[in-house]
Amino acid sequence: MIFQDIMKKRNSLTEQAHQLILNHLKAGEFAIDATVGNGHDTVFLAKQVSDQGLVFGFDIQLQAIESAQTNLSNELNFKNTKLFNTSHENLSDFIPSQYHGRIKAIMFNLGYLPGGHKTIITQSDSTLLALNQAIELLATHGVLTIMAYPGHSGGKEETQQIKQWCKQLNMNEFDIEQINSSEKETAPVLFFIIKH
Ligand SMILES: C[S@@+](CC[C@H](N)C(=O)[O-])C[C@H]1O[C@@H](n2cnc3c(N)ncnc32)[C@H](O)[C@@H]1O
Repeated sequence: MIFQDIMKKRNSLTEQAHQLILNHLKAGEFAIDATVGNGHDTVFLAKQVSDQGLVFGFDIQLQAIESAQTNLSNELNFKNTKLFNTSHENLSDFIPSQYHGRIKAIMFNLGYLPGGHKTIITQSDSTLLALNQAIELLATHGVLTIMAYPGHSGGKEETQQIKQWCKQLNMNEFDIEQINSSEKETAPVLFFIIKH
């Protein structure tokens, strides 16, 4: 039962992230999925920007990129995604310069690949390097979401580092919100950042 409760809350936080992005991302715009995984968020972003827009996706696991490609071709009858099998710390190098400062939504869903190796997880150092690039790539009124999971090994430290990173952002430039799925220390946390 506890497991089901946690999953329900985890789902609803992911849904909240999608809901928040829906208000900011339109057809024809550009988005990034910084942790592609099985591609559920990539599919969501790709549907939202439609065939005139473009979604860039990153994952260090080829297995994830392949799984996402399958989901994308099952769900969409157009191709508007470019997936890169590399770390998100290379965001700025892989995204062509004409898109820099024009990305309307960026999603980070940290942790491990569901159904994959639980030892291959996002790491604080590369996550922070990627987040620093992400805020530069964002357009005015663009939105960045970060789903963090303090409940798994290494996840607590990563979540703490993200909280610190949020604190040092310029409040005149960004709105920052933190949504906790419950009061439990191990419960997933959604960070939501809008660039003014
Ligand atoms: C929780 S899953 C993402 C779920 C995904 N957004 C979805 O909708 O299915 C986290 C993913 O981050 C990937 N990952 C770990 N470190 C990474 C890095 N440095 N750069 C990009 N992806 C990374 C993992 O391989 C894993 O697939």
